[in-house]
Amino acid sequence: MTVRIAIIGGTGVYDPNILSDVSQKRLETPFGPAWVKIGTYRGREVAFMARHGEDHSVPPHLVNYRANIWGLRQLGVKNVFATAAVGSLNPEMKPKQFVFVDQFLDFTRSRVQTFVEKGVVHLDMTDPYCPELRSTLARAAQELDLEYHFKGTYVCTEGPRFETPAEIRMFRQLGGDLVGMTSVPEVVLAREAGICYATIAMVTNFAAGISPTRLSHQEVVDVMAENAGNLRRLVMRAIEL
Ligand code: HPA
Repeated sequence: MTVRIAIIGGTGVYDPNILSDVSQKRLETPFGPAWVKIGTYRGREVAFMARHGEDHSVPPHLVNYRANIWGLRQLGVKNVFATAAVGSLNPEMKPKQFVFVDQFLDFTRSRVQTFVEKGVVHLDMTDPYCPELRSTLARAAQELDLEYHFKGTYVCTEGPRFETPAEIRMFRQLGGDLVGMTSVPEVVLAREAGICYATIAMVTNFAAGISPTRLSHQEVVDVMAENAGNLRRLVMRAIEL
């Protein structure tokens, strides 16, 4: 059987404990190794990758995005659901709500964003996030009665530090809704690889300067943990649809 669907688990999503007959694989790629677990869910082969490693040891700016996406393509993956913990800049997008991101603003600085090493290749980015998978996620969220937003602009920062309130005000003026540290270059590489890619953003906090309290990684992890069951149900329902 070929693996057509993959889940990339972000912060708080380290374990594919919904899959059965799980085996771990080390994938060799031109960009170094990538680790993946492959299992079955309702008769389908599903790959699972923990973006930050299963012990959350890899920070956002050091994730080997090219190895991960290349590895998934080697497996034959066509569709990816990626989870992401995000801060919100938009008062309508509240902690614990899901956002099926449709655009990004890129503020990363030190990441290779392409597999292309020669020649002139300019990739269309009109729809960076796969509209079909976003629709599938919306259907799944409706069926499960989960609160979601069908669109949102994800501002990707370099990290690993959180943002200053001044940066957050700027991002808001530019049209950003959410802020996180991983969607770029993951979504760009997935597009280059011809993979249909969707991000399930889960709001864990209001961003710096909007939130009345100072941000901590622990707060992000705690809110993810509280909503982990909903996130898991959403992803698994979307895979079935
Ligand atoms: N900023 C950046 N990344 C994040 C945040 C945030 O506020 N919350 C969760 N990931």
